[in-house]
Amino acid sequence: MKLWGGRFTKETNQLVHNFNASISYDQKFYKQDILGSIAHVTMLEKQAILTSEEKDAIVRGLQGILEDIENGTLKITAEHEDIHSFVEANLIERIGEPGKKLHTGRSRNDQVALDMKLYTRDEIVALNDLLKSLMVVIHRIMSEHVNTFMPGFTHLQKAQPVTLAHHFGAYFEMFRRDRSRLRDIYDRMNYCPLGAGALAGTTYPLDRNYSASLLKFDGPTFNSMDSVSDRDYLIELLSALSTIMMHMSRFCEEIILWNSNEYRFVEIDDSYSTGSSIMPQKKNPDIAELVRGKTGRVYGALISLLTTMKGIPLAYNKDMQEDKELTFDAIDTVKGCLALFTGMIDTMKFNKPIMEASAKNGFTNATDAADYLVNHGVPFRDAHGIIGQLVLLCIEKNIALDDLPLEEYKKISPVFEEDIYEAISMKTCVEKRNTIGAPGMEAMKKIITANAVYLEES
Ligand code: ARG
Repeated sequence: MKLWGGRFTKETNQLVHNFNASISYDQKFYKQDILGSIAHVTMLEKQAILTSEEKDAIVRGLQGILEDIENGTLKITAEHEDIHSFVEANLIERIGEPGKKLHTGRSRNDQVALDMKLYTRDEIVALNDLLKSLMVVIHRIMSEHVNTFMPGFTHLQKAQPVTLAHHFGAYFEMFRRDRSRLRDIYDRMNYCPLGAGALAGTTYPLDRNYSASLLKFDGPTFNSMDSVSDRDYLIELLSALSTIMMHMSRFCEEIILWNSNEYRFVEIDDSYSTGSSIMPQKKNPDIAELVRGKTGRVYGALISLLTTMKGIPLAYNKDMQEDKELTFDAIDTVKGCLALFTGMIDTMKFNKPIMEASAKNGFTNATDAADYLVNHGVPFRDAHGIIGQLVLLCIEKNIALDDLPLEEYKKISPVFEEDIYEAISMKTCVEKRNTIGAPGMEAMKKIITANAVYLEES
């Protein structure tokens, strides 16, 4: 059944129908569509636009449709243009005359704007929960590894020693910001477009405040033309999703490196790895690679929607239907990646001795050795030069600064004493760094406690 056959004298070309139809994907929000309609008719009755018998019949009919879709007895079929047409046609089939009044004071333009907002709100909650589960795992790993030393890198060159807790703590912060971005989007989008009509409101005495409160919005939207053509919140969401993917992708890149034969910092669990069809020895980090790979797809959705929106005059235009598939795909992709990524790091093993040895062998304590000289009155620039010479010597001998005999130190500067070894030990290097945000145990423990409170409260 068509909602708009009246002024037409010819059947729609089948290819046109197929090209125009959105039911293959907008059926995803059948539930939101039905709940939106129930709120709409509840408001219509309150305003005496529908009788209570009409409203009751419609609500019962809609609830029946919802149940039947959910228990599989009602199949959503492709002859309908979209989910809105499907539900309305089915309602009229079920309850007859009152069903024809469902669309009073409403257009599919404000209806679809509402459905998409309701759907997005639910998905933001689900995404937020998945991010939280990931952060709980990161937090557990942080708590267990305040003493696991590893090299911190800049330019992918060993720089200064940090701990695994500190390294994972960086990602905790990224995902904390991601959750806060989602919250902002939710708050900004949470205004109800229902009642905006096709673009210019309606002549019926709708109570838009009431519809908004029934659907748990903070209020109605303020301009009917903007209401039906605003897709900013989807662009914001896709941007936030892109950022989440960027964070996971960086993390995956590190895990891929750390899991390689060259690093061996971690071992991805067998249950999260895959093999090769030809090389029997292989155990590949496919999950991490796929998460990294799917990042492109989510960025693509953001750029697509920005591009779709850029030339659209007010108000609704059919171009906007293009918002759905890419948004659904991006949301599903991010949800899938978050769940798998969380499982992967939750089961991953950390190779503490190798991480520590790597920190030691990379001269990550060279800055601390220079600081030792500074503490004994040597100007920093001179200290830098002295340690540089010692590093060169160690490279020639293929040893760490920790293993260079004191005589060699003294040959280059008489300032060095036996306590140099203590001053440049991995433990000292990390533990002396106790300013807020630094890897020292005391600083780290405070952050871990604060993070636990955050996880409890949010
Ligand atoms: N499927 C349409 C969409 O997603 C619903 C709105 C249709 N409105 C219209 N004026 N044709 O945008």
